[in-house]
Amino acid sequence: MVSALKSSPSPKPSSNSLAPSKMPMGGAALDLTGVPLPEETLSAAQRADAILLGAIGGYKWDKNEKHLKPETGLLQLREGLKVFANLRPATVLPQLVDSSTLKKDVAEGVDLMVVRELTGGIYFGKPRGFGTNEKGEDIGFNTEVYATHEIDRIARIAFEIARKRRGQLCSVDKANVLEASMFWRKRVTAIASEYPDVELSHMYVDNAAMQLVRYPKQFDTIVTNNIFGDILSDEASMITGSIGMLPSASLGESGPGLFEPIHGSAPDIAGQDKANPLATILSAAMLLKYGLGEANAAKRIENAVLDTLNRGFRTGDIYSAGNKLVGCKEMGEEVLKSVGSSVAAAI
Ligand code: IPM
Ligand code: MG
Repeated sequence: MVSALKSSPSPKPSSNSLAPSKMPMGGAALDLTGVPLPEETLSAAQRADAILLGAIGGYKWDKNEKHLKPETGLLQLREGLKVFANLRPATVLPQLVDSSTLKKDVAEGVDLMVVRELTGGIYFGKPRGFGTNEKGEDIGFNTEVYATHEIDRIARIAFEIARKRRGQLCSVDKANVLEASMFWRKRVTAIASEYPDVELSHMYVDNAAMQLVRYPKQFDTIVTNNIFGDILSDEASMITGSIGMLPSASLGESGPGLFEPIHGSAPDIAGQDKANPLATILSAAMLLKYGLGEANAAKRIENAVLDTLNRGFRTGDIYSAGNKLVGCKEMGEEVLKSVGSSVAAAI
């Protein structure tokens, strides 16, 4: 399901004038319309100011043909909105340091940002498909391909982000083996000359995967391709305690941004009121900040999440002894109370 936020045509839009509309996509759309991304959903999303996306997927549709999978709808939505830059922050909150599977001194203080290229690379490259090789054996194949403009624009976004953070950018590739990565490294290095204040380093993806669990504090901003970013951001999320904590923002040159948790729909616990809603709530905060330019409102939501954690509320994935175990609904209600009390405090 997609919530598309459209500002009212009022000359002085404020957060009160937002009227969100809900459109189906993924499994909900398959059940309703037979396709994972109906045209009406894509066009409503394209007309919106920002889009909040619920996690997609589920056993029910797992065996569908590829064009009828919820995941295909998600890729079509990202492509249709041209949101090529996916920002995935991974921050270890002091409140959750004990939920990390890493030792406290390794996890403590980690604050990194994965900038993942989202509309290119092996996810979209052609040729792709199934066929037979010269020996007549069945094969499946995909193509990792990046053009100059695709690398240059994601590199610029990453340099800009690194500049506003701690000024360090690590570009992750597999340039010891793959031509697409050799080219990636060449273009990122060329763009670096526009950002003399940012320190650029390069790392092979296998080493980066290892360094992320060995000494994650060495990373500030990471820029990488679509598939490596998919994998490394899941890995980075576990440093923070749970993938249920990580929001993301997907942005294009212009047009609305797409905001979604980095996790899937956790079908194994569907309907049990166990899921952690914080990644989705924090995605709404990113929507306010990056999508609508409402940084103060975003901060209020982030503070409400911290306040809720400070008050000891935990879903199962981030639970540790001495805290209060709650379900998805109650966690959401507690965050709402914290937002309410911060508003009251401000008045
Ligand atoms: C993600 C997800 C998606 C991806 C899937 C659901 C298509 O894993 O957003 O990281 O691979 O991009
Ligand atoms: Mg993923």
